[in-house]
Amino acid sequence: MSDNHPLSLPIFKEITEIADSLGVRAYVVGGYVRDYYLHRPSTDIDVVVVGSGIEVAKILGRRLKTKVSIFKTFGTAMLHDREGREIEFVGARKESYSPDSRKPAVEEGTIEDDQLRRDFTINALAWSLNSDSYGELLDSFGGMEDLEELIIRTPTDPDVTFSDDPLRMIRGVRFATQLGFDLDSETFDAIVRNKERIAIVSKERIATELHKIVASPAPSIGFDLLSKTGLLQHIFPELEALRGVEVRNGKAHKDNFVHTLKVLDNVAKKSDNLWLRWAALLHDIAKPRTKAFDNKVGWSFHGHEVVGSKMIPEIFRRLRLPLNEHMKYVRKLVFLHLRPIILSEDEVTDSAVRRLLFEAGDDVEDLMTLCEADITSGIDSKVQRYLRNFALVRVKMKEIEEKDRVRNFQPPITGEIIMQTYGLEPCAQVGEIKAIIKEAILDGKIPNEYDAAFGLMEQIAAERGLKKAIDK
Ligand code: CTP
Repeated sequence: MSDNHPLSLPIFKEITEIADSLGVRAYVVGGYVRDYYLHRPSTDIDVVVVGSGIEVAKILGRRLKTKVSIFKTFGTAMLHDREGREIEFVGARKESYSPDSRKPAVEEGTIEDDQLRRDFTINALAWSLNSDSYGELLDSFGGMEDLEELIIRTPTDPDVTFSDDPLRMIRGVRFATQLGFDLDSETFDAIVRNKERIAIVSKERIATELHKIVASPAPSIGFDLLSKTGLLQHIFPELEALRGVEVRNGKAHKDNFVHTLKVLDNVAKKSDNLWLRWAALLHDIAKPRTKAFDNKVGWSFHGHEVVGSKMIPEIFRRLRLPLNEHMKYVRKLVFLHLRPIILSEDEVTDSAVRRLLFEAGDDVEDLMTLCEADITSGIDSKVQRYLRNFALVRVKMKEIEEKDRVRNFQPPITGEIIMQTYGLEPCAQVGEIKAIIKEAILDGKIPNEYDAAFGLMEQIAAERGLKKAIDK
């Protein structure tokens, strides 16, 4: 065993000693073994004990002087080693293995029983930890071959694997996406057969998998598979509704599902920001709802950015995505996603750029990334023209930001100042004056400075017949 092999870590030696002394067999299994062969970093370690996993964990916890969390019903125990790795112990089982299932621990089994009931062959590899066979690889179901052939396959009849835990259908798609593997055709067909069973899985567990798909190098693989297997219709029908091309009077619109996935992949090439990726996935979500046909102009999706942004809170709530600033960020980017394009099609005026900077605030760079990713036309000259115009918008933005600092701008005249100056109580008038000053700054009629804004306030007040408090 070479020094940089994970099994040379002292923690495994400790487990060996404990298992040997108790006379039980212990194995490292699952993602940790898989990720070693895939050269992926991995910290969480799963240990299967043929016997009591809890017993081994308790002794290890005493040795390491660390707390052991015990889940008696499931026969599992968990602790953190000195390096912060999470180590979970479980007894080998004959029945389904699912860490999240509410099913209590079941009949004890052999290591092969345990491997057989895991989700995929590549996750069913195990290394022996006992001293008589330390480091021996147990690969009873062809996991190594599937790792080499880049195949996601269940160790047993996929109908059984998926009925044990239907989330595994999405996990299969997720692993295919994350690792760039293919779903084995029998596994794929079983997902199609069992897709409705996804309804019994908690939304939270599904959301975790969706995040992992979105965070993958080419997330389109996952959403395409979810759609082709029919899972997408059950978990995220609005996204599935983007699929398809309609032709009327010889005029076709593009397939918005294909387009959306392209935009998502384009963004993924540029940014690891999970929420920017979600914004890409959702930017055209209202196109089916706003679709219209006119003989003269053909297809239109008028206002889809507005309707789409309004759909975001409900989608986030249903998918159990967080209803916090991340949701607001996605809603904002969906709302604004056409603005840089519209702006670049016209003459790029200072006031339009100022408004965009003001509305997008600190997210303006992300918005530009999304908009550039949104140019998926097949015609190269068109793409080039758009990208050139975007470059121009970026230059203008920089100039204006340096000059006017409107990005996170707070109007220099607050409601407080207006109320104090004219002895007013909070009322609609105060808001109106504030808004006129803000608009004047964004339009470039006055500079973004206190004196100029105060002057304008006085002018508006005079027009409205307001008297200063000190003159009253
Ligand atoms: N497992 C399973 N069925 C599930 C979840 C997990 O069979 N629904 C098994 C697999 O053997 C898996 C192991 O439990 O390898 C650990 O699960 P988990 O930590 O969720 O996944 P990893 O494979 O470690 O991968 P990742 O960390 O990327 O989620």
